[in-house]
Amino acid sequence: MFKLAPSILAADFSKLGAEVAEIEKGGANLIHVDVMDGHFVPNITYGAVVMKSLLGKTSLPFDVHLMIENPDKYIGDFVTESTEYITVHQEACPHLHSTIHHIKSFGVKAGVAINPATPPVVLECILADVDLVLVMSVNPGFGGQQFIYSSIDKIKYISGIREACKLNFEIQVDGGVGAGDAAMLREAGVDIIVAGSSVFKGGDIEGNVKGFFNHPTRI
Ligand code: DX5
Ligand code: ZN
Repeated sequence: MFKLAPSILAADFSKLGAEVAEIEKGGANLIHVDVMDGHFVPNITYGAVVMKSLLGKTSLPFDVHLMIENPDKYIGDFVTESTEYITVHQEACPHLHSTIHHIKSFGVKAGVAINPATPPVVLECILADVDLVLVMSVNPGFGGQQFIYSSIDKIKYISGIREACKLNFEIQVDGGVGAGDAAMLREAGVDIIVAGSSVFKGGDIEGNVKGFFNHPTRI
């Protein structure tokens, strides 16, 4: 079975705590925290202060997605007792090996993300060090975009290397995913699905979360 990490970027920030309680009731596994700096991506979201406002309000761990330049400077800000993953972009890290081990030095799982136009081959020298590979299925910066189907081939490629080299990192997909995509993505090798709009939009957050786990196409 896969894990579901709803992206709070799609939540109503005027009632963030209540909406996070809804995803927890629905059975979500993680809270996906999209951090954007307006430089690495053309949008600005929020800093660690918003994530930390949820501490003590939910038992769900944080899955932090840093879409920022120079992430080394800010990694420590996102380390809390509830932070399970911190993911940086390969495209933003000239010293990726050092950055990954900086994250791990806090006892947090380290993830590396690649954008839709970045070939997975760039990860080959870091796959043995990471705990998570995030395959972006949209161009980062905004929720509510269309899923880029070529991402599936990248997921299968990475899953094949994981198997051939007997590595044990998790594979995460992020962007434009709906409940109906879950079975196909699981089949391709995905362990964690990020979903924003398909969870938080439409009025029934708890029901949308449950819909991922009991969709008729479920495998
Ligand atoms: C995009 C973010 C995604 C996005 C997902 O840059 O990394 O996590 O918020 O939202 P949806 O599921 O609406 O595409
Ligand atoms: Zn994300």
